[in-house]
Amino acid sequence: MEKKKFYITTPIYYPSDKLHIGHTYCTVATDAMARYKRLTGCDVMFLTGTDEHGQKIEDKASKAGCTPKEFVDNIVEGEHGVLDLWKLMNISNDRFIRTTDDYHVAAVQKIFKKMYDKGDIYKGTYKGKYCKPCESFWTESQLVDGKCPDCGREVLDAEEEAYFFRLSKYADRVQHLLEDTDFLQPRSRVNEMVNNFIKPGLEDLCVSRTSFSWGVPVDFDPGHVVYVWVDALFNYTTALGLFNDRYHDYDHYWPADVHFVGKEIVRFHSIIWPAMLMSMEMPLPKHVFGHGWLLLDGGKMSKSKGNVVDPYILAEKFGVDALRFFLMRTFPFGSDGNFSNELLIQTINVDLANDLGNLLSRTTAMVGKYFGGTLPEGCRTCAEPEPCDKELCAMASALRSAYETAMESFAPHTALAEVFKVIQRANKYIDETAPWALAKDMEHNGARLAHVLYNLLEATRICGILLSPFMPDSAEKMFAQIGADASVQTWESAAQWGSLTETAVVTKGENLFPRIDAEKALAELEALEAEARKAALPAMEFEPFTPESVDFDTFCKSDFRVVKVKACEAVKKSTKLLKFTLDDGSGVDRQILSGVHAYYEPEDLVGKTLVAIVNLPPRKMMGQESCGMLLSAVHTERGEEKLHLMMLDDAIPAGAKLC
Ligand code: MSP
Repeated sequence: MEKKKFYITTPIYYPSDKLHIGHTYCTVATDAMARYKRLTGCDVMFLTGTDEHGQKIEDKASKAGCTPKEFVDNIVEGEHGVLDLWKLMNISNDRFIRTTDDYHVAAVQKIFKKMYDKGDIYKGTYKGKYCKPCESFWTESQLVDGKCPDCGREVLDAEEEAYFFRLSKYADRVQHLLEDTDFLQPRSRVNEMVNNFIKPGLEDLCVSRTSFSWGVPVDFDPGHVVYVWVDALFNYTTALGLFNDRYHDYDHYWPADVHFVGKEIVRFHSIIWPAMLMSMEMPLPKHVFGHGWLLLDGGKMSKSKGNVVDPYILAEKFGVDALRFFLMRTFPFGSDGNFSNELLIQTINVDLANDLGNLLSRTTAMVGKYFGGTLPEGCRTCAEPEPCDKELCAMASALRSAYETAMESFAPHTALAEVFKVIQRANKYIDETAPWALAKDMEHNGARLAHVLYNLLEATRICGILLSPFMPDSAEKMFAQIGADASVQTWESAAQWGSLTETAVVTKGENLFPRIDAEKALAELEALEAEARKAALPAMEFEPFTPESVDFDTFCKSDFRVVKVKACEAVKKSTKLLKFTLDDGSGVDRQILSGVHAYYEPEDLVGKTLVAIVNLPPRKMMGQESCGMLLSAVHTERGEEKLHLMMLDDAIPAGAKLC
């Protein structure tokens, strides 16, 4: 029988900054969904990639002093880049598209021309508002308090000759699609789209730009580049081979079954995208699912807010599977959720270390301790099952169906909640059956004990199968520990209680989910994150040169002298100031106070030869007089100010004038 196909996509990421945990969220969800569909026997195509054109990238590259292509190459392919991150997170995408790939660029040109030839793209003048960070055009009426409705930032006035897409022509059909079908999910997003964007009147969309060049050139009108969102959205089809020879499975996989996207780009996917597909007379994707955001302290994560959480740090500290699990288990997929390290640790400790970890380690340890790792034949059945046996078996047998319902409605958090109900039930079953008590009289209770442990292995196996899309590596290790071979790791066997071979070889292996010492981990994380923040700062920064010039005579009025430190001590009640007693060659000691205590210990400075400006008017600091100022050199290293007192060769006598 031909396999059912399933085509799922993530948004393609802007490689303008390194990705953070918020970006990881959508890709992990898509990966879990793709793995689930493969598990159920579907022929899955999972696409992700990078959206590499647009003014934002052009600007960033010019700031970084490289070409836009060099800039994106580094973020996509470089160390800790997009590809590295997806490898680390065990993302099983079947394809990866970069919108700078030649085949995509050529295909977008053909697509643009086709809509133009049809009359759905026409030339006009663009007057309106443009949000540079979002690369979005807005009409006056769409602004919120005069600002970009997506990100809340200032918008710019823009006017230029441009091509327009007849979005207005498709307004009714799009409204019908949103209101009368289950195209856009969750349902709550439909009203927002219809009321905020369609009902006020869908205006034609500006789809070309002339003010920058980093984009797909409009081949029949040099100087214009295709609006980045048109270029980006069609990735879902060019990556299958639409208008190109690189791939050949457009007819097989298109239309997509679902596009997973973050809520702020639902407008592009549920209004502009279907309208353009209608214009192209192409089938529409079956669903768009707009998931919520991971928030930090109630706000969206973003590099510009400086609160980006580094998935590399979290994965290294807690493990990739634990991180994947946390993201999917904790936050209902359609809603926003507040990310915190505390919550991450708590979820790992409660669900993984306590519930799942305990079930696995107690079960495998008892099979080892009481039966040498292999249960006796006949353990699958029991002449007189007890109510708790029946309940565990019934719950585990019904689990697949509840899980499937949740996954099919794009509710991975609900699917996981169902799995954990069974895990918790199984742990309760251990307490109810008290295997350690049964083991005291093996002659009478041996068969019962073997049955209890078999039931626990079965519950663990079924949960392992259903957890595998979320924690692929851990599920494999679980299967190895309970002796479940490939034939009982299947989707079919997840609904078949009693599939595990009675005499499977069980081994208590490594503790898969060790408990985390929250206080220690939080302190370590804070230190690691601070280090990462520091590493991201420029290695060296220097004060900009003063543009104003100073005339020579004025400069010559400054009297710089060589001075020797006779004594030096900290100024009481000041954390910064040191008091210097200096020989300036005049025969009378000079006192200078200088804020260098953060950089030097006073005793280390005694005897040093320094430079001071000596004709500044005396100043009182912390109640003491300072007659002059010591010269020092300053710069910033990884955000930290560094200071070096100017020290001269000790052979130079005190009082020598610098000129
Ligand atoms: N390039 C566009 C997508 C084009 S699709 C044809 C884009 N890229 S993005 O890199 O800015 O965002 C990619 C995805 O990451 C979006 O779906 C966005 O919602 C998601 N996230 C970015 N930060 C996020 C959170 N803090 N939380 C959850 N998802 C968030 O948009």
